[in-house]
Amino acid sequence: MDLFSAILSLLSLYLLFLIISHFILPPPPPHGPKTHPVIGSLIPFYENRHRLLDWYTSLLATSPTQTFVIGRLGARRTVVTANPKNIEHILKTNFPNYPKGKPFTDILGDLLGRGIFNSDGDLWLAQRKLASHEFTARSLRDLLVSALDSEADGRLVPVLTSACSERRAVDLQDLFRRFAFDVICNISLGTDPGFLDVSLPELPFVNAFDAASMVSARRGAEPVSAVWRVKRALGVGSERQLEEAVGSIHEYVNDIIKRRKEEINVKAAGEKEVGRNDLLSRLIAGGNSDEAIRDMVISFVMAGRDTSSAALTWFFWSVSCYPDVEAELLTEIMQVTRSKERRVDYESLREMKYLEACLCETMRLFPPVVWDSKHADNDDVLPDGTRVRKGDRVTYFPYGMGRMESIWGRTGWSSGPGGGCPSKKEKGRSCCGCRRTSIQCSKRGLGFAWGRTWHLCK
Ligand code: HEM
Repeated sequence: MDLFSAILSLLSLYLLFLIISHFILPPPPPHGPKTHPVIGSLIPFYENRHRLLDWYTSLLATSPTQTFVIGRLGARRTVVTANPKNIEHILKTNFPNYPKGKPFTDILGDLLGRGIFNSDGDLWLAQRKLASHEFTARSLRDLLVSALDSEADGRLVPVLTSACSERRAVDLQDLFRRFAFDVICNISLGTDPGFLDVSLPELPFVNAFDAASMVSARRGAEPVSAVWRVKRALGVGSERQLEEAVGSIHEYVNDIIKRRKEEINVKAAGEKEVGRNDLLSRLIAGGNSDEAIRDMVISFVMAGRDTSSAALTWFFWSVSCYPDVEAELLTEIMQVTRSKERRVDYESLREMKYLEACLCETMRLFPPVVWDSKHADNDDVLPDGTRVRKGDRVTYFPYGMGRMESIWGRTGWSSGPGGGCPSKKEKGRSCCGCRRTSIQCSKRGLGFAWGRTWHLCK
């Protein structure tokens, strides 16, 4: 057969396929993205690639059960859901069927190794138990509070104060990124990178962390995973950058582990009182291997830094859009702190219910984790009737969920009673930072920053 006949046969086959699929196959559900034979939803996906969050949200809003399925050439079939019952099913009821899965853990494996954020099954469970245990410890909460305290008083507030007095604009997003990084390193590693202190030299570790996160995220966005795998095997381009960045992160963390062990040994020999409460010291005390400790603390830095800084940034942005909300917040802060010589501390923040509602509302509309995916181990049916096939990616979508009128009865901001408060349901795999101390403490963190800076700037 010559080339012309081969092409003609292929075209005829494709035409036949189109006719069959048009007349015989059931039409795709009306609420999903437009699909075409063979290529699936590749075209609308490509057209909307710069606005995936809003596109997915509009697809979910037109779906009767806030769920749709998207398949496109070269990508895995993906179920996207903002349906609370489905989400409870994925994260709790049928949790064992929805691990993060190899496609996810491969992407982050170089950076996170086998740390909690990047593991499944028994390995995850063991770390989860450990982390839950550590996070319930009062000493770790105290460390978090004191890290927030000194970072806010010693660095954030002075930077903002001088900007206020000089009437100089500041990049709040960048400041909060630095703030969150310092705090998370204090509690995870027991060291202070001083990222927010511009008078200190920048640590290579900080830049390495940024570079490694960026390249790892880019791996996830590659249309076909073979692209980054080949680049890694050849050690070229962004993959080479990742290798170098991970190398310097490991070097930095390994060095801290080594020095901390020496400190602990000195203490054991009775020469000096060390008494550290950070996660790293507690993991060393628990007798874990150096590699396990390294991966665990890197997971914590990764999990805690961008989430907290994104929440802080969106919180300040949201409140600045609503002068009446801002006024009410200031009134609450003044009232609660009046009896405490204007000091915003952990206890006074517990009394600030309006502040808490505003933080919840911010995270409803601008969740720091906009989506999170698992991969089905076996066929399943979600509570709304959506069929899941073995190997499917199942994505729950907090960004869209926070914007479903069918769930909230509104789409815009409301910090009234109950506004934005998260579900109280226990989940199989949820944020261990958020749930025990940290959802409290990261909110308190926002509160620390909020209360103190606003006092000064107003
Ligand atoms: C506003 C701030 C935060 C938000 C919105 C947030 C959200 C989340 C989400 C959605 C997950 C995914 C759970 C999953 O893997 O399915 C997660 C996991 C995790 N978060 Fe957070 N997080 C925040 C702050 C923090 C902080 C400050 C820490 C550490 C001190 C932290 C530590 C972790 C850890 C260790 C995990 C992995 C838990 C596991 O796999 O069992 N997070 N977080």
